[in-house]
Amino acid sequence: DPVLLEQWDKQYVWHPFTQMQQYVREKPLIIARGEGSYLIDVEGNRYLDGVSSLWVTIHGHCHPALNRAIKEQLDKIAHSTLLGLANVPSILLAKKLVEITPPGLNKVFYSDAGATAVEIALKMAFQYWQQKEGGRFRSKTKFISLVEAYHGDTIGSVSVGGMPLFHGIFKPLLFECLHAPAPYCYRCPLERERENCGMACADRLEELLKEHQQEVAAVIIEPLVQGAAGMITAPEGFLRRVRGLCTRYNVLLIADEVAVGFGRTGRLFACEHEGVSPDLMCLAKGITGGYLPLAATITTDEVYSAFLGTPEECKTFYHGHTYTGNPLACAAALASIELFEKENLLAALQPKIELLHRKLESFWELPHVGDIRQRGMMVGIELVADKKTKQPYPLEEQVGHRVILEARRRGLVIRPLGNVIVLMPVLAMSEEELNQVLEITYESIAVVTGK
Ligand code: LLP
Repeated sequence: DPVLLEQWDKQYVWHPFTQMQQYVREKPLIIARGEGSYLIDVEGNRYLDGVSSLWVTIHGHCHPALNRAIKEQLDKIAHSTLLGLANVPSILLAKKLVEITPPGLNKVFYSDAGATAVEIALKMAFQYWQQKEGGRFRSKTKFISLVEAYHGDTIGSVSVGGMPLFHGIFKPLLFECLHAPAPYCYRCPLERERENCGMACADRLEELLKEHQQEVAAVIIEPLVQGAAGMITAPEGFLRRVRGLCTRYNVLLIADEVAVGFGRTGRLFACEHEGVSPDLMCLAKGITGGYLPLAATITTDEVYSAFLGTPEECKTFYHGHTYTGNPLACAAALASIELFEKENLLAALQPKIELLHRKLESFWELPHVGDIRQRGMMVGIELVADKKTKQPYPLEEQVGHRVILEARRRGLVIRPLGNVIVLMPVLAMSEEELNQVLEITYESIAVVTGK
């Protein structure tokens, strides 16, 4: 009964990243089923999934091949532990991940969320320097991340985060982290002109590294797109530059591909666009095609070998989550990666990326669209109170929220980041459905902000 469900949702569930006082005043959207690019609510209404269920859905909801893979694994075993034991799907998936990730990434450490994948990368990087060459690099204990970075919500990943709105209150709990400016060209933190800035933000990173290289364990970055910050797209060459700096100043590079991995930017991994191999790579979200919680931190033989020794040397990586390497999730991931190949998904993405690009051009004519940022199938449309001065809308106007409610009425589910309207279509979405997503988004922005 939808009425009872609504009542119980409001009575019993505390939703993440949600002001519950406001939530309980609005009618909740309760999803009962999914079909391809559509979410279907308890009343039978259909909505296009324009946010890929928080950036995870790849091949569509209820895909027969993924459903089958999970059912088949379910009839064998649902879970057994990786702490000291092995299981079949986690072995096959690790081999596959090593084959498809950038060269040099050879060892797979599983967990179950993006935040834990990041947490693990941070702890590995830290312990690596403690143990490498008898500890002669023990001073390398700090991290550098970018302003506006988002790497998840656990305390370690919040420590390397840079979003005052989410992270400010936890400051006393966090470890120290150095911040380099974000390549946010629309609102350049260094106030340079986009055309001839010489990538001054990367210069600042270099200055930080030059000064602190003895204390820095790793640089962590969201390759190509700082997602939660509002889809901040880095200029061409930025990532390659960061890789080069990490090598030059002897610090590890952690690539957080949680949001950009698995086809989102048009290549399987964002690092591929610039021929970059990180020292540690974090994967989650789309790894199972959007089906089950699973994450992986993948690293090099060099990092791995610093943890080898006799048990009493205590070089072991003392970290692990109960559901690490869950067989159902690994089976889903294997089936999803297989589908990338079978359905030629990456090739099929190119015309859709171009369609998005073409259609988004018309959004510039809307009087309150300040910036449009696209990288592959990731889009951020920044709404501003004043286009000339780039004056942001005040928070209390909740422009982003109003736009997505308008879109919902028209049959599209999206989720904003403040005043940035985010489009994250299901990767397998048809061109016709994509057109609809764009039309509804355009109308909804026009209705809320005026035309
Ligand atoms: N790293 C990156 C680059 C991410 O984008 C995310 C989540 C994570 C790590 C953490 O993964 P998780 O632990 O959730 O599996 N809070 C925003 C959106 C965050 C988008 C999710 N990204 C919102 O309110 O919409």
